[in-house]
Amino acid sequence: MSEPAFRHLLDIEDLGDRDGIEEVMRLTDSFVEVSERTIPKVPALRGKTVAWLFYEDSTRTRLSFETAAKRLSADTMNFSVSSSSVKKGESLRDTARTIEAMGIDAIVVRHASAGAPHRIASWVDAAVVNAGDGWHQHPTQALLDTYTLRSRLGDLDGRHVAIIGDIKHSRVARSDVWAFTRMGARVTLVAPPTLLPPSLEGWPVEVSHDLDAVLPTVDAAYLLRMQRERMTEALLPSLREYTACYGLTERRAELLADGAVVMHPGPMNRGVEIAAEVADLPNSLILDQVRNGVAVRMAVLFLLLGSGSDKVPTVRSDG
Ligand code: NCD
Repeated sequence: MSEPAFRHLLDIEDLGDRDGIEEVMRLTDSFVEVSERTIPKVPALRGKTVAWLFYEDSTRTRLSFETAAKRLSADTMNFSVSSSSVKKGESLRDTARTIEAMGIDAIVVRHASAGAPHRIASWVDAAVVNAGDGWHQHPTQALLDTYTLRSRLGDLDGRHVAIIGDIKHSRVARSDVWAFTRMGARVTLVAPPTLLPPSLEGWPVEVSHDLDAVLPTVDAAYLLRMQRERMTEALLPSLREYTACYGLTERRAELLADGAVVMHPGPMNRGVEIAAEVADLPNSLILDQVRNGVAVRMAVLFLLLGSGSDKVPTVRSDG
């Protein structure tokens, strides 16, 4: 395997073109195989330490990274902002450099401000992974979404994906659009005008406000949560009205073609953007996304931290 072309994973674009994503997908296949073993652990990152720096809430992303690091035998260090010196006014720079001084090899960062992981990467030598920064990007989510879509649909060339909902505040949408289109898919954004970014210049997408018309044409319907914690003004008359126009209700789910799949990054607000029953349909890949997230993050950590003879992920189990 060649050396990775990137030292940090801050934006999905860091992977370069389609080949960079393909490489992560291939490596993820190996780690899915590891995850299915009786003892799902390999010694690939033994002796390395990964720290979490989460300034924003997270359930699946933090646990997923933590599971990934442990399956690679890395040591982990959990930094909880609520019980740390950040509460005493310590700056992001001082916090990052303090953590690094303890001999950390990688820092996984989630922050409410776009660009925070980029700043940290400019201050430390450790590899930095962006686990979500403001509205900006969430590259490992895009990789696990791409992997999950390919596992079900095969090649994404010519496939049609609708990303539906609060695109404006979604770092997931910003990373997914890039990843899906790089892999050859066509992407349509479906949202009310108030939930689209002010400018879509440079976005390789089509836009629609008519979900009923788009659904029969797609291979995947990707729903987004209404990210009310990021809204600074009232952008919708009411959630009920939103659901009526843009929610994936049971009636709407019947408009999907046979074989079309439903996805959501979580956390879901059942009954708002997606009906409770639809989230649990056989064509829902929502739990596959979570499952694949661990293997994808193993691949990313391994690409950033694995070196020399360690670069064989399918070596014997560790126990
Ligand atoms: C997303 C996030 O935090 O960006 N969730 C996730 O990481 N799986 C989406 C969201 O918060 O709605």
